Amino acid sequence: MTTTSTTTYATTIDAIRDAARRIAPHAIRTPVVRCSAISERAGHPLRFKCENFQKVGAFKFRGACNAVFKLSDELARRGVVTHSSGNHAQALALAAKLRGIPAHIVMPRNAPSVKREAVEGYGGIVYPCEPTVADREATADRVVAETGGTLIPPYNHPDVIAGQGTIALEFLEECPDLGAIIVPIGGGGMISGVALAAKAVKPSIAIIAAEPANADDAARSKRAGSIQPIAAATTIADGLRTSLGSLTFPVVRDLVDEVVTVSEDEIVAAMRLVFERAKLVIEPSAAVGVAVALSRRSKAISALQQGTPVGIVLCGGNVDLDALPWSVTPPSGAAAPR
Ligand SMILES: Cc1ncc(COP(=O)(O)O)c(C=O)c1O
Repeated sequence: MTTTSTTTYATTIDAIRDAARRIAPHAIRTPVVRCSAISERAGHPLRFKCENFQKVGAFKFRGACNAVFKLSDELARRGVVTHSSGNHAQALALAAKLRGIPAHIVMPRNAPSVKREAVEGYGGIVYPCEPTVADREATADRVVAETGGTLIPPYNHPDVIAGQGTIALEFLEECPDLGAIIVPIGGGGMISGVALAAKAVKPSIAIIAAEPANADDAARSKRAGSIQPIAAATTIADGLRTSLGSLTFPVVRDLVDEVVTVSEDEIVAAMRLVFERAKLVIEPSAAVGVAVALSRRSKAISALQQGTPVGIVLCGGNVDLDALPWSVTPPSGAAAPR
């Protein structure tokens, strides 16, 4: 735990450094990429931390891997449990497979079959449940009771947050001149780890949360000074539909400088620009960070000296290529896409 004079946070810089050592044999040290065309539009040199190249295609592997490898042998033998249909499910399944232990994944019955197959492909055991929070939690509790497995939630967990913080350690090692880091925010696990690590290494750095306006619980929570959960978020950025948790809210309240929201049109335009100009496959949640930079609405970034580099975490690349959010019309005479 990190403690300020009044607050204890979920994790510490020492725990994040331990996490970096723990996950190093398994996780990819992702590259940092530049793109002058997008930087020009943003008005600052941008540095993209490519977590779309991480194992399972998203940063989530860092937190899951840290949590799984930190378990004692005795606990590990009984396996791990989570309820998720997103990147955390795949990340936990792969981390468990690498440790040689079972991963029990509770997933809503209506989750796309590709997601279920991806989890099963990593050796995860899928438990279908009704698509309600109540049934997800009840099913996960039942699985924990039956298996004795350890519940590893997607963001509200100290070891998960510490694992995500390793993004910032690598980013600042490679780009010590960053003036700000933009981090997409859902439940806030990634930004909590990044903020705790980055501010410990470089206290002057600004941490900016990037959030869809259609899922603006973090913006409202920060304004209100208390968690303001969102009932039903309707954003294309499916990784960002969740609300802040008890461990992530205090970090967002105290260490995140600003939450900037963007529209659905801005998210899609940013995603397309990254495909086209940076030649990177990213999912909508990652495009939210780019959209914030392109919007030029961040006061913290405007306050930086001209020419100061700004980091953006491209948090994932798991996008359904058959359902890209813009029309793909084949040139006349070309075969239609299969
Ligand atoms: C690609 C991607 N980006 C961002 C997030 C949000 O992360 P957090 O919930 O830690 O804020 C998620 C969560 O599932 C995700 O999958």
